[in-house]
Amino acid sequence: MTSTDTQDAAGQPARAAALDLIDAALSRRAGLEEGLTHPALGRLESRDRAFARALAMAVLRHLGPIDAALQARLKKPPPDRIVQVLRLGAAQLLVLKTPAHAAVSATVDLAGRQKGGQPFKGLVNAVLRGLTREPPPLDDPELLAPQWLAARWRAAFGADAARAMAALIAAEPATDITPQGEADDLVSQLEAWSLPGGTLRAGLKGEVSTWPGFADGRWWVQDASAAVPARLLHVTSGETALDLCAAPGGKTLQLAAAGARVTALDKSAGRLKRVTENLARTGLGAEVVNADAAEWNDRRRFDAVLLDAPCSATGTYRRHPDVLWVASPADIPKLAALQSRLLDAAGRRVKPGGRLVYCVCSLEPEEGEAQVDAFLKRAPEFALDPVAPGEGGAPEASLLPNGTLRILPHHREGGTDGFFIARMRRNA
Ligand SMILES: C[S@@+](CC[C@H](N)C(=O)[O-])C[C@H]1O[C@@H](n2cnc3c(N)ncnc32)[C@H](O)[C@@H]1O
Repeated sequence: MTSTDTQDAAGQPARAAALDLIDAALSRRAGLEEGLTHPALGRLESRDRAFARALAMAVLRHLGPIDAALQARLKKPPPDRIVQVLRLGAAQLLVLKTPAHAAVSATVDLAGRQKGGQPFKGLVNAVLRGLTREPPPLDDPELLAPQWLAARWRAAFGADAARAMAALIAAEPATDITPQGEADDLVSQLEAWSLPGGTLRAGLKGEVSTWPGFADGRWWVQDASAAVPARLLHVTSGETALDLCAAPGGKTLQLAAAGARVTALDKSAGRLKRVTENLARTGLGAEVVNADAAEWNDRRRFDAVLLDAPCSATGTYRRHPDVLWVASPADIPKLAALQSRLLDAAGRRVKPGGRLVYCVCSLEPEEGEAQVDAFLKRAPEFALDPVAPGEGGAPEASLLPNGTLRILPHHREGGTDGFFIARMRRNA
């Protein structure tokens, strides 16, 4: 069976599930993740589940160009649910290349099944037939990112970087893993290649929990950029390390694998369960604490402290394109205020002579460079500990003149998550 046959045969339950997925993804932060783990999706047959997921991701990766093409064909916007149906139809035609007759008739049918949808069937039919006759390009970097974010990226990183970053929104990323110990056999088993620092980029696709070595805890999924911050702490056996925003635990696992005595703290009890599961699967140990990092009632200080702060997560758009569309300009100052409170709390936990790494998977300077500049003014007992070129596997292009790292998604061939990372040392 070809993939097109599969899409034809996968019926309306898959399309209806995809509709719910994009509704969830575009209406709230983490909505896509909730939708993908929702029991309703689990109840679908595996073929339908895969199609629903592929369809939702096709919409989210091309939302800007799809919406531009739809707007050009709509005199006035139909109800939101019909807009979502049109987006799904457009993604079938233009991204998944479902045969036009199947994509159009299934989408018109889906529109008719929505509450109040019957009167819009003709409109859906006409718009999709128009897209079939004159398919618009979906790869225009000027349309791929929301305009307000693209403008911010141009201002912060320049026009060429902003275009290169936007182009990666449409591309499905490979899965990166961090291996534990000797990894030669994993390279062939996962059809992987090695990246600087020790990350493996897997060539395999599909459900990672079925890949060789997963069940035995020989590796965990972790983007190449996300693996850099913990490496920069250079923890040695027996040192104490505090991971202040730890869940789901990728950086905790790295610190524990390096031999540190790790305390993994997170405010979310639900997310901490994933830390515990990951520790159990990999056979690594850490003290797991459920607390607010700013209010944790504990007097200990640590050799190494890592603050991977909650952020707008705009740097993770290759895996979560929904973050671009649910983020809003008003989020950034709110998150920046939280990050500054957490950074002060992290600083108080560092022993004299100890190291502090601050990082965010955000592309917004207010959450990265500006946080660290302001913290160093508030806390003169800390100084930047500049990162050396290539240290920790960071792309050389990401090293800023002051020794902090601004990793942009195009800094690694094939893409990588965007991160800001700074290492500081406490003098007294
Ligand atoms: C970027 S994620 C951390 C990812 C994690 N370090 C990893 O590598 O797997 C941010 C985490 O901060 C947690 N968080 C948010 N506010 C917090 C607070 N005030 N105190 C502690 N944890 C918090 C969230 O629950 C979330 O798990």
